[in-house]
This record gives sequence, structure tokens and C-alpha cells, in this order.
Amino acid sequence: MELKVNIERLRKDLESLRTIGRVSTGGVSRTSYSAADLQARRWYVDRCADAGIEVFVDGLGNMVAQDSKESSDQAPVWSGSHIDSVPNGGHLDGALGAVAALECLRRLIEAKVPLNRPVRAVVFTDEEGNYEHLLGSSGLARGFTSEQLEGMEGRDNDRLVDRLDELGWDLDAATRTRIDHGEIHAFVELHIEQGPKLEATGTDIGVVTSIVGLSGGKVEFEGKPDHAGTTPMRQRKDALLASAEFLTTLPGIAASISDHSVITCGLITVEPGGANVVPGTARLTLDFRDPDADRLRALAAGIAGSAAEVAARHEVGLKWLPDTFIEPVPLDPGIRELIIASVKQLGLSHIDIPSGAGHDSQNIAWLAPTAMVFVPSKGGRSHSPAEDTAWGDIENGANVLLATLLALASREADRPAHPFTAQQTRRTMELINPSEGVGNACTN
Ligand code: HGY
Ligand code: MN
Ligand code: MN
Repeated sequence: MELKVNIERLRKDLESLRTIGRVSTGGVSRTSYSAADLQARRWYVDRCADAGIEVFVDGLGNMVAQDSKESSDQAPVWSGSHIDSVPNGGHLDGALGAVAALECLRRLIEAKVPLNRPVRAVVFTDEEGNYEHLLGSSGLARGFTSEQLEGMEGRDNDRLVDRLDELGWDLDAATRTRIDHGEIHAFVELHIEQGPKLEATGTDIGVVTSIVGLSGGKVEFEGKPDHAGTTPMRQRKDALLASAEFLTTLPGIAASISDHSVITCGLITVEPGGANVVPGTARLTLDFRDPDADRLRALAAGIAGSAAEVAARHEVGLKWLPDTFIEPVPLDPGIRELIIASVKQLGLSHIDIPSGAGHDSQNIAWLAPTAMVFVPSKGGRSHSPAEDTAWGDIENGANVLLATLLALASREADRPAHPFTAQQTRRTMELINPSEGVGNACTN
């Protein structure tokens, strides 16, 4: 008989995790490194401990869980996702893939399935990018210098390094998270689709073909704060008014590049921030995406050009601080074949689907062959409390993931595994202070 996940246990875990950081709308707010995120990490480590699984954590807080009796010397198969969320987000974005990977690892351990290489479950830090989009997986794939980390600010204008310091984490270890190509044999991430295609076509599983390229940045217009009652309209240097005009140019810029280009401004801060003060400074945080790397760069150029033009017309100052480009990636054809074989073996239907959302998979794809499995999202909703997926679809996705991981871990031995960045990590069991969350002091 085929090995299947324990859907009751998976459901109980997902329902339990959604209570952490739950807000009154029914959604979850688990910003990375917040108290809720730390509580969720503690919850994850406890679930691992219950199953005889130990967890290693690196300098940014990426957590890698492995069977405490793991003995294979072969490069491991990784699966996982993230447990942080956007503000007032849904309960499955990231959580599904993180908890399902843990469930797969638990099933493989308890069923004592003989494998040619280990399976490990991973939770990436700050996928939603309060400090940097896909922070944890970028740390694994490329690493960060201390200067880069020092420049990262959250949506409350707080600095990442101050938050890490406050938690007692080792800042130096946060610069040593990069791992080598070959340390991972393969990576598979299960995720909700976050769009309407699977539901609309009545399809069980999406086999992801590629992940969109993404970037963003901060645009700051600098005008003059003045009295709202006494400053004549013509004498004002209103930073928010300049921002408003700039925002109206964004749909045209996206349309001029491609039908698939998108630009979003989801965050504006205005200073000094009083109803009776002409806005002196306006900061806009942008997100822009395209499936093609050259078009992504053209979007950045279009945005910078428009901001400069608007600033000149309004006679206000301008700063443009672009983010790093996270390249679009095709996913691995070999693993996609294994996913399709698993779908067929389970009697399910599938379609190929590109991802317009960003995922840690697009960073891990630079380290190892990588693929993603999507399950339907009700009404295509996500980044919203309305986000949901039927339990039957969750079960299907988790079983496809398990069968795919089993196929990958049964592949012939080829090269020895490195222990997961032993130089940079310690077992979290020793490091977690229940009142504070996860620490990461580094001894090696
Ligand atoms: O924004 C994204 O696409 C992802 O949810 N982090
Ligand atoms: Mn998300
Ligand atoms: Mn996600």
C-alpha cells in the first residue's frame, strides 16, 4: 500500500498554528521575528521534538529539521516553506508547505521507510519580506554582508540588526548563512496556488513551471512641511501630492513593458503626519514583478524615470532606493516529472502553472534542482483572511509531496551530504529561551 500522510494530524497542526498570531478578522499576523513568529517557531520545534526530530537554526533563523537518528551520508532532499505572514494574512500561505513537509518527514520516520538519502524539513525566515523579500532563502543562496544587513529596515522603520540584537542573536552568524551548491540534493515546496486557475479548471494539482522575477524599492519625495491653513496652494511643496501623481503613472509603466508586468505600492508613510500639516516627506514602498529578467529591469528603469520626472515637476527632492533583483527561474523538469508521476499514481488531475507569487524555491533553485506543487485556493484569494483551501485538496497536495519526496530520497547515492552548515548552526533545543523565542548563538 502507498504511504500516505496522516491527514488528521496535519489538520490538527495547521489548525493549531493558525491560532498563533490570529487577529480579530480571522486572519493571521506573524511578521518575521515578532512575538507571534517566535511563538510559532517554538511551536514548530515542539512538534519536531514530539516526533524525535531535531532542529538546527542558522544565523538568520532558518530552521532545518532532521530525524535525530539520521545516519545517511548522502546529500538530503529538502522540503518546506515559511511560517511568517503578511499583516492580516491567511493561515495557509507558507504554513501549509512548512507543516506538510514536517508531516512527510514524520511519516517516513514512523513507517521506517528505507531511503538512499535523508529527507529534511525546512522553515525559511521572513519570506514575506518585512526586512527583505525572501530574506532567509536569500541568505542560504547568496548570503549577506553585515553592511547589507545593517541597511535593512522593516515596515515600522525599525532596523533588522536592532531586532536581532534585541533578541540576543549573534549578528556575525547572520552573515554566515550561505550554503554550497551540492549541500542539498533536491528541494520541493508545497504551496497554495494563491490564484484562481486550479479552482476554475476543477484541477487537483498545479505543477509549477516557473516563478516570477521580483524586486521593489523605496521612493522618497522630500517637500516642505508647512501650515495647512496659512500656506497658499501655489507655494506648497507637498510630498504626498507628488506621490499621488507618481502612483497614477505606475499602471501605464507596467502596461508599456508587458501584459505580465505588475507594480504595487502597498505602503506609504507621510511625515510629519498631521491632518493640518502639509506633508513634508512621503515614502512609498513598491513591489514590481515580471516573469522575464530583462523586462523586470525595464520596469525598474521606468519607475525611476517617472519618479524623477514627477519630482522635477513638483520641485521636490527625490530618493530612489531599489531592492535587489530576485531573478525569475524555471523549475526542474526532472522533479516536475516525478510530481506528475505521483499525481497519476494517486489518481489526481494536474495542469502546468507559472507562479506569479514569489517563493523561497526561486532562491533554492540556485543551489539544487527545485520544484513546486500547488493546491487550489478558494476564490483564488490570498494575502487576506479570506484565504482558504478545502481539506481534501490539502490532503491531495500533501500526499503528492510525500510521494515525490519518497521518489527523490530513493534515488541512487551520488555524493556525500554535508551536515547542515554545522559551522553556522546549533541545535535549537539548547538555544530556545521559551520567554524570548529562538536564539542563535554560534559556538563553532
Ligand atoms: O509576495 C509574494 O509573492 C510572496 O507571498 N512572498
Ligand atoms: Mn505570501
Ligand atoms: Mn508563501
